Amino acid sequence: MKDFLRTQWLAKSFQYFDEIDSTNTYLKQHAGELPNGAAVLAARQTAGRGRLGRAWQDNGKPSLALSVLLHKQTVENLSLLPLLAGLAVRRALEKLTGLGLQLKWSNDVLLENQKLCGILCESRIQAGDSFGAFAVVGIGVNLEQTRDEFDLLDLVYATSLKLATGKSLEILPVAAEILYEFEQILDIFEKNSFEALREEYKNSCITLGREVRIISGNNEQIGMAVDIGKDGALICEIDGRLVNINAGEASVRGIYGYV
Ligand code: BTN
Repeated sequence: MKDFLRTQWLAKSFQYFDEIDSTNTYLKQHAGELPNGAAVLAARQTAGRGRLGRAWQDNGKPSLALSVLLHKQTVENLSLLPLLAGLAVRRALEKLTGLGLQLKWSNDVLLENQKLCGILCESRIQAGDSFGAFAVVGIGVNLEQTRDEFDLLDLVYATSLKLATGKSLEILPVAAEILYEFEQILDIFEKNSFEALREEYKNSCITLGREVRIISGNNEQIGMAVDIGKDGALICEIDGRLVNINAGEASVRGIYGYV
């Protein structure tokens, strides 16, 4: 990986596994002994986790599971991290493939309405740490899966880099590019807040301007997605009122399908 990494501080602690249960689980278990920015990469997960308690499916094909540990996160940061990671993945994969990609609020990276990458951010207050919580940002990119393989898993809205480009991309250079862009984004965020990145997010966010279903537990509402707030919330017009939907509290689906 040393040949590929161009970061200053992110992934200075870096571990690679051919197979692991879950890179997010690993970092959560070892957060106490690992430094800020520690990264774990795996080509296979046996118990990969997705958002809302779902499994992140693995069909034995090389995939990219990357997690990054960030110490001392405030509550405000926690709701923005999925958006920041999405921006980084979009930048990196666009650079590597030449394709135009979109973001589905809050944290999916899409190619032509199909999911190429999912992001799971988890956090925990560390005992005795008065500065805040640690966060683990987990990024799963579909590398090699074929259409038939997705269909077998009933993942009709998924695509892979192989399907998108016709080429097999190596896991290490892809992970290194994502880490490079994520460091750039985190540095901008640290210096200038989300304001410096909000326009880029809005311009690439396919959710805006669409009618969406906002699903929170058993509750479902229909609204029009109109803006992204300073705190990363999706601002929706519901029955003539503007309502802020916070990432982590609700999931958003299009009326006619995934987007
Ligand atoms: C989703 O779209 O539901 C989020 C999927 C997140 C998957 C990644 S793969 C790396 C990290 N480890 C996990 O167990 N999950 C995340």
